[in-house]
Amino acid sequence: MKTAPLLEMRNITKRFPGVLANDNVSFDVRGGEVHTLLGENGAGKSTLMKILFGLYQPDSGEVRLRGEVASITSPTSAIEKRVGMVHQHFMLVPTLTVAENVALGLPSARGFRTDLDAVSARILEISEQYGLSVDPGIEIWKLSVGERQRVEIIKALYRDAELLVLDEPTAVLTPQEVDDLFVILRQMTANDTGIVFISHKLHEVLELSDRITVLRNGRVTGYTTPAEANRQQLAEMMVGREVNLSPDKPHVDLGLARLQLRHVSVKGDRGTMAVNNVSLDVHAGEIVGIAGVSGNGQRELAETIAGLRPAEAGSSVTIDDIDLTKANPSQTRAVGLAYVPEERMKDGAVGDFEVSENLLLINHGDPRFRSRGLFDFAKIREHCQRLVDQFSVKTPSLSTKTSALSGGNIQKLIMARELDSKPSVILAAQPTRGVDIGAAEYIHAELVQQRNVGVAILMISEDLDEILGLADRIAVMFEGQLVAMVDRTSATREELGLAMAGG
Ligand SMILES: Nc1ncnc2c1ncn2[C@@H]1O[C@H](COP(=O)(O)OP(=O)(O)O)[C@@H](O)[C@H]1O
Ligand SMILES: [Mg+2]
Repeated sequence: MKTAPLLEMRNITKRFPGVLANDNVSFDVRGGEVHTLLGENGAGKSTLMKILFGLYQPDSGEVRLRGEVASITSPTSAIEKRVGMVHQHFMLVPTLTVAENVALGLPSARGFRTDLDAVSARILEISEQYGLSVDPGIEIWKLSVGERQRVEIIKALYRDAELLVLDEPTAVLTPQEVDDLFVILRQMTANDTGIVFISHKLHEVLELSDRITVLRNGRVTGYTTPAEANRQQLAEMMVGREVNLSPDKPHVDLGLARLQLRHVSVKGDRGTMAVNNVSLDVHAGEIVGIAGVSGNGQRELAETIAGLRPAEAGSSVTIDDIDLTKANPSQTRAVGLAYVPEERMKDGAVGDFEVSENLLLINHGDPRFRSRGLFDFAKIREHCQRLVDQFSVKTPSLSTKTSALSGGNIQKLIMARELDSKPSVILAAQPTRGVDIGAAEYIHAELVQQRNVGVAILMISEDLDEILGLADRIAVMFEGQLVAMVDRTSATREELGLAMAGG
Protein backbone atom coordinates (compact mmCIF):
# COMPACT_ATOMS: atom_id res chain seq x y z
CA MET A 1 0.00 0.00 0.00
CA LYS A 2 1.30 3.45 -0.96
CA THR A 3 1.81 6.12 1.66
CA ALA A 4 0.51 9.31 0.01
CA PRO A 5 -3.24 9.10 -0.51
CA LEU A 6 -4.41 8.70 -4.07
CA LEU A 7 -7.47 10.82 -3.35
CA GLU A 8 -8.21 13.40 -0.69
CA MET A 9 -11.51 15.21 -0.51
CA ARG A 10 -11.19 18.06 1.97
CA ASN A 11 -14.01 19.98 3.60
CA ILE A 12 -16.40 19.49 0.71
CA THR A 13 -19.66 21.38 1.00
CA LYS A 14 -22.44 21.15 -1.57
CA ARG A 15 -25.87 22.70 -1.33
CA PHE A 16 -28.96 22.06 -3.41
CA PRO A 17 -32.02 24.24 -3.02
CA GLY A 18 -33.20 23.52 0.51
CA VAL A 19 -30.70 20.67 1.15
CA LEU A 20 -27.18 20.63 2.45
CA ALA A 21 -26.13 17.48 0.58
CA ASN A 22 -22.49 17.55 1.72
CA ASP A 23 -21.51 19.48 4.81
CA ASN A 24 -17.76 19.87 5.28
CA VAL A 25 -17.00 16.28 4.27
CA SER A 26 -13.42 15.03 4.30
CA PHE A 27 -12.10 11.58 3.48
CA ASP A 28 -9.20 9.99 1.64
CA VAL A 29 -8.42 6.84 -0.33
CA ARG A 30 -5.05 5.15 -0.72
CA GLY A 31 -4.02 3.06 -3.68
CA GLY A 32 -4.65 -0.58 -2.89
CA GLU A 33 -7.55 -0.12 -0.49
CA VAL A 34 -11.31 -0.32 -0.51
CA HIS A 35 -12.73 2.71 1.23
CA THR A 36 -16.46 2.44 1.86
CA LEU A 37 -18.90 5.30 2.05
CA LEU A 38 -21.73 4.10 4.24
CA GLY A 39 -24.97 5.95 4.86
CA GLU A 40 -28.74 5.88 4.58
CA ASN A 41 -30.63 7.10 1.53
CA GLY A 42 -30.02 10.81 1.12
CA ALA A 43 -26.89 10.89 3.31
CA GLY A 44 -24.90 12.51 0.49
CA LYS A 45 -22.78 9.64 -0.84
CA SER A 46 -23.67 9.97 -4.52
CA THR A 47 -23.34 13.74 -4.40
CA LEU A 48 -19.82 13.47 -3.03
CA MET A 49 -18.86 11.02 -5.76
CA LYS A 50 -20.49 13.11 -8.48
CA ILE A 51 -18.27 15.97 -7.33
CA LEU A 52 -15.26 13.71 -7.66
CA PHE A 53 -16.36 12.69 -11.14
CA GLY A 54 -16.87 16.27 -12.31
CA LEU A 55 -20.65 16.06 -12.55
CA TYR A 56 -21.14 18.68 -9.82
CA GLN A 57 -18.88 21.47 -8.60
CA PRO A 58 -18.55 21.80 -4.81
CA ASP A 59 -19.57 25.10 -3.18
CA SER A 60 -16.38 24.90 -1.14
CA GLY A 61 -13.62 22.47 -0.31
CA GLU A 62 -10.99 20.86 -2.46
CA VAL A 63 -10.25 17.61 -4.24
CA ARG A 64 -6.66 16.38 -4.31
CA LEU A 65 -5.33 13.58 -6.47
CA ARG A 66 -1.89 12.13 -5.76
CA GLY A 67 -1.12 15.02 -3.43
CA GLU A 68 -2.02 17.80 -5.88
CA VAL A 69 -5.12 19.98 -5.98
CA ALA A 70 -7.21 18.75 -8.90
CA SER A 71 -9.75 20.75 -10.79
CA ILE A 72 -12.28 18.24 -12.10
CA THR A 73 -14.70 20.09 -14.31
CA SER A 74 -16.33 17.23 -16.20
CA PRO A 75 -16.36 13.42 -16.43
CA THR A 76 -13.87 13.72 -19.28
CA SER A 77 -11.44 15.54 -17.04
CA ALA A 78 -12.04 12.95 -14.29
CA ILE A 79 -11.22 10.14 -16.70
CA GLU A 80 -8.09 12.00 -17.85
CA LYS A 81 -7.04 12.08 -14.22
CA ARG A 82 -7.62 8.31 -14.05
CA VAL A 83 -10.80 8.39 -12.02
CA GLY A 84 -13.42 5.84 -13.09
CA MET A 85 -17.02 5.49 -12.05
CA VAL A 86 -19.57 2.69 -12.19
CA HIS A 87 -22.89 4.43 -11.75
CA GLN A 88 -25.93 3.10 -9.93
CA HIS A 89 -27.69 3.00 -13.28
CA PHE A 90 -25.59 1.59 -16.06
CA MET A 91 -24.72 3.80 -18.98
CA LEU A 92 -24.48 1.19 -21.73
CA VAL A 93 -26.15 1.09 -25.15
CA PRO A 94 -28.05 -2.23 -25.23
CA THR A 95 -27.93 -2.69 -29.02
CA LEU A 96 -24.15 -2.26 -29.25
CA THR A 97 -21.54 -4.88 -28.43
CA VAL A 98 -19.28 -4.81 -25.41
CA ALA A 99 -16.36 -3.60 -27.54
CA GLU A 100 -18.48 -0.91 -29.19
CA ASN A 101 -19.63 0.32 -25.80
CA VAL A 102 -16.09 0.43 -24.49
CA ALA A 103 -14.93 2.26 -27.62
CA LEU A 104 -17.71 4.85 -27.38
CA GLY A 105 -16.26 8.21 -26.44
CA LEU A 106 -12.65 7.04 -26.58
CA PRO A 107 -10.36 9.70 -27.94
CA SER A 108 -9.20 7.93 -31.07
CA ALA A 109 -6.98 9.13 -33.87
CA ARG A 110 -8.40 6.67 -36.34
CA GLY A 111 -12.05 5.97 -37.06
CA PHE A 112 -14.21 4.23 -34.47
CA ARG A 113 -14.78 1.15 -36.67
CA THR A 114 -11.17 0.43 -37.56
CA ASP A 115 -10.14 0.38 -33.93
CA LEU A 116 -12.66 -2.20 -32.80
CA ASP A 117 -10.30 -5.16 -33.21
CA ALA A 118 -7.68 -3.47 -31.09
CA VAL A 119 -10.32 -2.58 -28.52
CA SER A 120 -11.50 -6.18 -28.38
CA ALA A 121 -7.96 -7.47 -27.94
CA ARG A 122 -7.37 -5.08 -25.05
CA ILE A 123 -10.72 -6.01 -23.47
CA LEU A 124 -9.71 -9.66 -23.52
CA GLU A 125 -6.42 -8.79 -21.82
CA ILE A 126 -8.15 -6.80 -19.08
CA SER A 127 -10.83 -9.43 -18.77
CA GLU A 128 -8.18 -12.10 -18.27
CA GLN A 129 -6.15 -10.09 -15.80
CA TYR A 130 -9.08 -9.46 -13.47
CA GLY A 131 -11.14 -12.56 -14.09
CA LEU A 132 -13.97 -10.53 -15.60
CA SER A 133 -14.80 -13.05 -18.33
CA VAL A 134 -16.76 -10.94 -20.79
CA ASP A 135 -16.99 -11.58 -24.53
CA PRO A 136 -16.17 -8.32 -26.38
CA GLY A 137 -18.30 -9.29 -29.39
CA ILE A 138 -21.59 -9.87 -27.58
CA GLU A 139 -24.41 -7.31 -27.54
CA ILE A 140 -25.22 -5.75 -24.19
CA TRP A 141 -28.90 -6.70 -24.22
CA LYS A 142 -27.89 -10.37 -24.13
CA LEU A 143 -25.99 -9.95 -20.87
CA SER A 144 -27.18 -10.44 -17.29
CA VAL A 145 -27.10 -7.51 -14.90
CA GLY A 146 -23.92 -8.83 -13.29
CA GLU A 147 -22.22 -9.08 -16.68
CA ARG A 148 -23.30 -5.55 -17.62
CA GLN A 149 -21.72 -4.32 -14.46
CA ARG A 150 -18.49 -6.05 -15.40
CA VAL A 151 -18.60 -4.23 -18.74
CA GLU A 152 -18.81 -0.93 -16.84
CA ILE A 153 -15.78 -1.97 -14.82
CA ILE A 154 -13.91 -2.92 -17.99
CA LYS A 155 -14.79 0.46 -19.46
CA ALA A 156 -13.15 2.17 -16.52
CA LEU A 157 -10.10 -0.12 -16.53
CA TYR A 158 -9.72 0.37 -20.28
CA ARG A 159 -9.40 4.07 -19.58
CA ASP A 160 -6.67 3.26 -17.06
CA ALA A 161 -8.63 4.13 -13.94
CA GLU A 162 -6.39 4.16 -10.90
CA LEU A 163 -9.27 5.13 -8.66
CA LEU A 164 -12.59 3.40 -9.21
CA VAL A 165 -15.88 4.47 -7.66
CA LEU A 166 -18.72 1.94 -7.47
CA ASP A 167 -22.03 3.48 -6.39
CA GLU A 168 -24.20 0.76 -4.79
CA PRO A 169 -22.91 -1.93 -7.14
CA THR A 170 -24.40 -4.79 -5.17
CA ALA A 171 -27.96 -3.47 -5.12
CA VAL A 172 -28.71 -5.31 -8.36
CA LEU A 173 -26.68 -8.48 -7.80
CA THR A 174 -27.40 -11.97 -6.48
CA PRO A 175 -25.34 -13.15 -3.49
CA GLN A 176 -23.21 -15.27 -5.85
CA GLU A 177 -22.59 -12.29 -8.14
CA VAL A 178 -21.65 -10.20 -5.12
CA ASP A 179 -19.02 -12.76 -4.19
CA ASP A 180 -17.66 -12.70 -7.74
CA LEU A 181 -17.56 -8.90 -7.74
CA PHE A 182 -15.63 -8.84 -4.48
CA VAL A 183 -13.01 -11.20 -5.92
CA ILE A 184 -12.60 -8.85 -8.89
CA LEU A 185 -12.33 -5.79 -6.65
CA ARG A 186 -9.73 -7.52 -4.49
CA GLN A 187 -7.72 -8.32 -7.60
CA MET A 188 -7.81 -4.63 -8.46
CA THR A 189 -6.61 -3.49 -5.06
CA ALA A 190 -3.80 -6.03 -5.27
CA ASN A 191 -2.72 -4.01 -8.31
CA ASP A 192 -2.78 -0.80 -6.23
CA THR A 193 -6.06 0.49 -7.58
CA GLY A 194 -7.95 2.56 -5.01
CA ILE A 195 -11.64 1.75 -4.69
CA VAL A 196 -14.53 3.75 -3.30
CA PHE A 197 -17.34 1.36 -2.51
CA ILE A 198 -20.83 2.60 -1.70
CA SER A 199 -23.35 0.41 0.05
CA HIS A 200 -25.75 0.32 2.93
CA LYS A 201 -25.61 -3.45 3.37
CA LEU A 202 -23.72 -3.86 6.58
CA HIS A 203 -22.39 -7.40 6.20
CA GLU A 204 -20.98 -6.52 2.76
CA VAL A 205 -19.32 -3.42 4.08
CA LEU A 206 -17.71 -5.37 6.91
CA GLU A 207 -16.56 -8.08 4.53
CA LEU A 208 -14.98 -5.92 1.84
CA SER A 209 -13.75 -2.65 3.34
CA ASP A 210 -10.33 -1.63 4.53
CA ARG A 211 -11.70 1.61 5.91
CA ILE A 212 -15.20 3.01 6.33
CA THR A 213 -16.50 6.56 6.39
CA VAL A 214 -20.05 6.93 7.66
CA LEU A 215 -22.26 9.80 6.48
CA ARG A 216 -25.52 11.05 7.93
CA ASN A 217 -27.50 14.03 6.65
CA GLY A 218 -24.54 15.19 4.57
CA ARG A 219 -22.01 15.01 7.39
CA VAL A 220 -19.31 12.55 8.36
CA THR A 221 -20.41 10.88 11.58
CA GLY A 222 -17.39 8.64 11.91
CA TYR A 223 -14.36 6.96 10.42
CA THR A 224 -13.84 3.31 11.29
CA THR A 225 -12.65 -0.11 10.11
CA PRO A 226 -14.20 -3.59 10.08
CA ALA A 227 -11.84 -4.56 12.91
CA GLU A 228 -13.16 -1.76 15.11
CA ALA A 229 -16.86 -1.86 14.32
CA ASN A 230 -19.69 -4.37 14.06
CA ARG A 231 -23.07 -4.22 12.30
CA GLN A 232 -24.75 -2.77 15.33
CA GLN A 233 -22.27 0.07 15.72
CA LEU A 234 -22.31 0.88 12.01
CA ALA A 235 -26.10 1.00 12.02
CA GLU A 236 -26.06 3.39 14.96
CA MET A 237 -23.54 5.65 13.25
CA MET A 238 -25.80 5.72 10.18
CA VAL A 239 -29.00 6.41 12.07
CA GLY A 240 -27.68 8.52 14.94
CA ARG A 241 -29.39 6.62 17.73
CA GLU A 242 -29.60 3.15 19.20
CA VAL A 243 -31.11 0.59 16.84
CA ASN A 244 -32.21 -2.97 17.33
CA LEU A 245 -31.22 -4.82 14.17
CA SER A 246 -32.82 -8.11 15.10
CA PRO A 247 -35.89 -7.75 17.25
CA ASP A 248 -36.21 -10.09 20.24
CA LYS A 249 -38.50 -12.93 19.41
CA PRO A 250 -40.04 -14.63 22.41
CA HIS A 251 -40.96 -18.28 22.10
CA VAL A 252 -44.50 -18.67 20.82
CA ASP A 253 -46.33 -21.98 20.67
CA LEU A 254 -47.33 -22.69 17.12
CA GLY A 255 -51.04 -22.60 16.48
CA LEU A 256 -53.04 -24.06 13.62
CA ALA A 257 -52.00 -23.65 10.01
CA ARG A 258 -53.79 -20.46 8.98
CA LEU A 259 -52.47 -19.99 5.46
CA GLN A 260 -52.29 -23.19 3.43
CA LEU A 261 -50.95 -23.47 -0.10
CA ARG A 262 -51.39 -26.77 -1.92
CA HIS A 263 -49.87 -27.47 -5.32
CA VAL A 264 -50.06 -23.82 -6.30
CA SER A 265 -49.03 -23.15 -9.90
CA VAL A 266 -49.28 -19.72 -11.47
CA LYS A 267 -48.57 -18.32 -14.90
CA GLY A 268 -46.46 -15.18 -15.23
CA ASP A 269 -47.06 -12.20 -17.49
CA ARG A 270 -45.51 -13.97 -20.46
CA GLY A 271 -47.72 -17.01 -20.13
CA THR A 272 -44.99 -19.34 -18.91
CA MET A 273 -45.25 -21.05 -15.53
CA ALA A 274 -43.86 -18.67 -12.92
CA VAL A 275 -44.86 -20.66 -9.83
CA ASN A 276 -44.62 -24.39 -10.02
CA ASN A 277 -46.42 -26.69 -7.60
CA VAL A 278 -45.77 -24.80 -4.37
CA SER A 279 -47.13 -26.23 -1.13
CA LEU A 280 -46.64 -24.50 2.20
CA ASP A 281 -48.30 -24.00 5.60
CA VAL A 282 -47.93 -20.89 7.69
CA HIS A 283 -49.09 -21.33 11.27
CA ALA A 284 -50.44 -18.91 13.79
CA GLY A 285 -47.48 -17.46 15.66
CA GLU A 286 -44.76 -17.94 13.09
CA ILE A 287 -43.00 -15.96 10.41
CA VAL A 288 -42.12 -18.02 7.37
CA GLY A 289 -39.54 -16.30 5.20
CA ILE A 290 -39.22 -16.93 1.48
CA ALA A 291 -35.72 -16.02 0.39
CA GLY A 292 -34.70 -15.78 -3.23
CA VAL A 293 -33.47 -13.56 -5.99
CA SER A 294 -36.43 -11.63 -7.33
CA GLY A 295 -37.84 -12.90 -10.58
CA ASN A 296 -38.09 -16.48 -9.38
CA GLY A 297 -41.85 -16.44 -9.00
CA GLN A 298 -42.18 -14.65 -5.67
CA ARG A 299 -44.20 -11.75 -7.06
CA GLU A 300 -46.60 -14.04 -8.90
CA LEU A 301 -47.04 -16.23 -5.83
CA ALA A 302 -47.83 -13.19 -3.67
CA GLU A 303 -50.28 -11.82 -6.22
CA THR A 304 -52.09 -15.14 -6.34
CA ILE A 305 -52.44 -15.33 -2.57
CA ALA A 306 -53.76 -11.76 -2.57
CA GLY A 307 -56.33 -12.59 -5.23
CA LEU A 308 -54.71 -10.44 -7.90
CA ARG A 309 -53.63 -13.24 -10.22
CA PRO A 310 -55.41 -16.51 -11.08
CA ALA A 311 -53.89 -19.86 -10.10
CA GLU A 312 -53.81 -22.84 -12.42
CA ALA A 313 -56.24 -25.74 -12.08
CA GLY A 314 -55.27 -28.06 -9.22
CA SER A 315 -53.99 -25.23 -7.02
CA SER A 316 -55.50 -24.50 -3.64
CA VAL A 317 -55.14 -21.47 -1.35
CA THR A 318 -56.95 -21.36 1.98
CA ILE A 319 -56.95 -19.08 4.99
CA ASP A 320 -58.42 -20.53 8.18
CA ASP A 321 -59.86 -23.32 6.05
CA ILE A 322 -61.76 -20.95 3.80
CA ASP A 323 -61.05 -21.62 0.14
CA LEU A 324 -59.64 -18.52 -1.53
CA THR A 325 -58.24 -20.10 -4.66
CA LYS A 326 -60.59 -18.13 -6.89
CA ALA A 327 -61.17 -15.17 -4.58
CA ASN A 328 -60.70 -11.53 -5.52
CA PRO A 329 -58.74 -9.06 -3.35
CA SER A 330 -61.71 -7.85 -1.34
CA GLN A 331 -62.72 -11.43 -0.56
CA THR A 332 -59.20 -12.33 0.64
CA ARG A 333 -59.24 -9.19 2.74
CA ALA A 334 -62.59 -10.07 4.22
CA VAL A 335 -61.20 -13.34 5.61
CA GLY A 336 -58.28 -11.50 7.19
CA LEU A 337 -55.41 -11.24 4.76
CA ALA A 338 -53.25 -8.13 5.07
CA TYR A 339 -51.11 -7.57 2.00
CA VAL A 340 -47.98 -5.44 1.85
CA PRO A 341 -47.07 -5.57 -1.81
CA GLU A 342 -43.66 -5.40 -3.40
CA GLU A 343 -44.68 -2.60 -5.71
CA ARG A 344 -45.88 -0.01 -3.25
CA MET A 345 -46.99 2.64 -5.66
CA LYS A 346 -48.65 0.21 -8.02
CA ASP A 347 -50.48 -2.12 -5.66
CA GLY A 348 -50.17 -0.57 -2.20
CA ALA A 349 -50.94 3.11 -2.32
CA VAL A 350 -52.18 5.72 -4.75
CA GLY A 351 -49.61 8.47 -5.24
CA ASP A 352 -52.14 11.14 -6.15
CA PHE A 353 -54.24 10.45 -3.07
CA GLU A 354 -53.78 12.27 0.20
CA VAL A 355 -52.15 10.42 3.09
CA SER A 356 -55.53 10.11 4.85
CA GLU A 357 -57.15 8.67 1.72
CA ASN A 358 -54.49 5.98 1.45
CA LEU A 359 -54.93 5.14 5.11
CA LEU A 360 -58.61 4.52 4.45
CA LEU A 361 -58.17 2.73 1.15
CA ILE A 362 -59.25 -0.67 2.39
CA ASN A 363 -61.83 0.20 5.00
CA HIS A 364 -63.80 3.14 3.71
CA GLY A 365 -66.95 1.14 4.31
CA ASP A 366 -66.06 0.67 7.98
CA PRO A 367 -69.07 1.48 10.22
CA ARG A 368 -66.67 3.25 12.63
CA PHE A 369 -66.42 6.10 10.15
CA ARG A 370 -70.09 6.57 9.46
CA SER A 371 -72.86 8.16 11.33
CA ARG A 372 -76.42 8.08 10.02
CA GLY A 373 -75.16 6.93 6.63
CA LEU A 374 -72.72 9.80 6.18
CA PHE A 375 -68.95 9.92 6.56
CA ASP A 376 -67.93 11.09 10.00
CA PHE A 377 -64.96 13.25 9.04
CA ALA A 378 -63.87 14.04 12.58
CA LYS A 379 -63.65 10.31 13.37
CA ILE A 380 -61.78 9.68 10.15
CA ARG A 381 -59.25 12.40 10.88
CA GLU A 382 -58.74 11.12 14.41
CA HIS A 383 -58.22 7.57 13.15
CA CYS A 384 -55.71 8.65 10.49
CA GLN A 385 -53.81 10.85 12.91
CA ARG A 386 -53.54 7.96 15.34
CA LEU A 387 -52.07 5.67 12.66
CA VAL A 388 -49.63 8.33 11.49
CA ASP A 389 -48.46 8.91 15.06
CA GLN A 390 -48.33 5.25 15.98
CA PHE A 391 -46.25 4.31 12.95
CA SER A 392 -44.25 7.55 12.93
CA VAL A 393 -45.08 8.27 9.31
CA LYS A 394 -43.23 11.50 8.57
CA THR A 395 -45.67 13.68 6.65
CA PRO A 396 -46.31 17.44 6.75
CA SER A 397 -50.05 16.77 7.14
CA LEU A 398 -52.82 14.24 6.61
CA SER A 399 -53.76 15.98 3.37
CA THR A 400 -50.27 15.82 1.85
CA LYS A 401 -50.13 14.01 -1.48
CA THR A 402 -48.72 10.56 -0.78
CA SER A 403 -46.25 10.71 -3.67
CA ALA A 404 -44.46 13.52 -1.83
CA LEU A 405 -43.40 11.16 0.99
CA SER A 406 -40.16 9.17 0.98
CA GLY A 407 -40.28 5.46 0.15
CA GLY A 408 -39.81 4.50 3.77
CA ASN A 409 -42.69 6.64 4.92
CA ILE A 410 -45.00 5.31 2.22
CA GLN A 411 -44.10 1.82 3.38
CA LYS A 412 -44.89 2.71 7.00
CA LEU A 413 -48.21 4.15 5.84
CA ILE A 414 -49.13 0.91 4.07
CA MET A 415 -48.00 -1.12 7.09
CA ALA A 416 -50.10 1.06 9.39
CA ARG A 417 -53.20 0.58 7.28
CA GLU A 418 -52.69 -3.16 6.85
CA LEU A 419 -51.90 -3.97 10.47
CA ASP A 420 -54.81 -1.84 11.65
CA SER A 421 -57.12 -4.23 9.80
CA LYS A 422 -56.49 -6.84 12.57
CA PRO A 423 -55.37 -9.51 10.12
CA SER A 424 -55.16 -13.24 10.65
CA VAL A 425 -52.52 -13.64 7.94
CA ILE A 426 -49.97 -11.07 6.78
CA LEU A 427 -48.33 -11.40 3.41
CA ALA A 428 -45.41 -8.98 3.29
CA ALA A 429 -43.30 -8.74 0.13
CA GLN A 430 -39.95 -6.95 0.43
CA PRO A 431 -41.30 -5.12 3.51
CA THR A 432 -38.24 -2.91 3.95
CA ARG A 433 -36.75 -2.59 0.47
CA GLY A 434 -35.46 0.94 0.02
CA VAL A 435 -36.45 1.75 3.58
CA ASP A 436 -34.03 3.38 6.01
CA ILE A 437 -32.70 1.37 8.95
CA GLY A 438 -34.78 3.31 11.46
CA ALA A 439 -38.04 2.64 9.62
CA ALA A 440 -37.02 -0.96 8.92
CA GLU A 441 -36.44 -1.52 12.62
CA TYR A 442 -39.95 -0.30 13.30
CA ILE A 443 -41.57 -2.41 10.59
CA HIS A 444 -39.72 -5.51 11.81
CA ALA A 445 -40.78 -4.94 15.39
CA GLU A 446 -44.40 -4.61 14.26
CA LEU A 447 -44.25 -7.86 12.30
CA VAL A 448 -42.80 -9.70 15.28
CA GLN A 449 -45.48 -8.17 17.50
CA GLN A 450 -48.19 -9.54 15.20
CA ARG A 451 -46.52 -12.95 15.17
CA ASN A 452 -46.50 -12.94 18.95
CA VAL A 453 -50.26 -12.51 19.11
CA GLY A 454 -50.96 -15.40 16.74
CA VAL A 455 -50.95 -13.90 13.28
CA ALA A 456 -49.44 -16.13 10.55
CA ILE A 457 -46.87 -14.20 8.55
CA LEU A 458 -45.45 -15.01 5.15
CA MET A 459 -42.56 -12.68 4.39
CA ILE A 460 -40.93 -12.61 0.96
CA SER A 461 -37.55 -10.92 0.86
CA GLU A 462 -34.37 -10.75 -1.15
CA ASP A 463 -32.53 -9.47 1.88
CA LEU A 464 -30.93 -12.41 3.68
CA ASP A 465 -30.27 -10.35 6.79
CA GLU A 466 -33.95 -9.58 7.01
CA ILE A 467 -34.89 -13.23 6.52
CA LEU A 468 -32.32 -14.47 9.05
CA GLY A 469 -33.29 -11.81 11.57
CA LEU A 470 -37.04 -12.35 11.43
CA ALA A 471 -38.11 -15.73 10.11
CA ASP A 472 -38.84 -18.81 12.22
CA ARG A 473 -38.69 -21.04 9.16
CA ILE A 474 -37.04 -20.28 5.85
CA ALA A 475 -37.78 -21.48 2.33
CA VAL A 476 -35.83 -20.56 -0.77
CA MET A 477 -37.65 -19.93 -4.02
CA PHE A 478 -35.82 -20.73 -7.23
CA GLU A 479 -37.32 -20.91 -10.72
CA GLY A 480 -40.84 -21.07 -9.40
CA GLN A 481 -40.27 -23.77 -6.82
CA LEU A 482 -39.56 -23.92 -3.12
CA VAL A 483 -36.17 -25.62 -3.10
CA ALA A 484 -35.47 -25.76 0.59
CA MET A 485 -37.32 -25.43 3.85
CA VAL A 486 -35.16 -25.08 6.93
CA ASP A 487 -35.62 -24.07 10.51
CA ARG A 488 -34.08 -20.69 11.33
CA THR A 489 -31.89 -22.30 13.97
CA SER A 490 -30.16 -24.52 11.42
CA ALA A 491 -29.99 -22.05 8.51
CA THR A 492 -26.74 -20.44 7.42
CA ARG A 493 -26.19 -17.52 5.08
CA GLU A 494 -23.89 -19.59 2.84
CA GLU A 495 -26.35 -22.42 2.45
CA LEU A 496 -29.23 -20.06 1.65
CA GLY A 497 -27.08 -18.08 -0.79
CA LEU A 498 -26.24 -21.29 -2.63
CA ALA A 499 -29.87 -22.38 -2.80
CA MET A 500 -30.81 -18.93 -4.11
CA ALA A 501 -28.36 -19.41 -6.97
CA GLY A 502 -29.87 -22.80 -7.74
CA GLY A 503 -27.03 -24.77 -6.16
N1 LIG B 1 -29.48 17.18 -8.27
C1 LIG B 1 -30.04 17.37 -7.07
N2 LIG B 1 -30.87 18.41 -6.85
C2 LIG B 1 -31.43 18.62 -5.63
N3 LIG B 1 -31.23 17.84 -4.56
C3 LIG B 1 -30.40 16.79 -4.72
C4 LIG B 1 -29.77 16.50 -5.97
N4 LIG B 1 -29.01 15.38 -5.82
C5 LIG B 1 -29.16 15.00 -4.54
N5 LIG B 1 -29.99 15.84 -3.88
C6 LIG B 1 -30.34 15.76 -2.44
O1 LIG B 1 -29.13 15.73 -1.72
C7 LIG B 1 -29.21 14.82 -0.64
C8 LIG B 1 -28.13 13.77 -0.76
O2 LIG B 1 -28.45 12.92 -1.87
P1 LIG B 1 -27.49 11.79 -2.40
O3 LIG B 1 -26.11 12.32 -2.51
O4 LIG B 1 -28.10 11.23 -3.62
O5 LIG B 1 -27.57 10.73 -1.22
P2 LIG B 1 -27.18 9.18 -1.18
O6 LIG B 1 -26.42 8.85 -2.42
O7 LIG B 1 -26.36 9.03 0.07
O8 LIG B 1 -28.47 8.43 -1.06
C9 LIG B 1 -30.61 14.27 -0.66
O9 LIG B 1 -31.40 15.02 0.22
C10 LIG B 1 -31.04 14.48 -2.09
O10 LIG B 1 -32.45 14.62 -2.17
MG1 LIG C 1 -26.86 7.39 -3.86
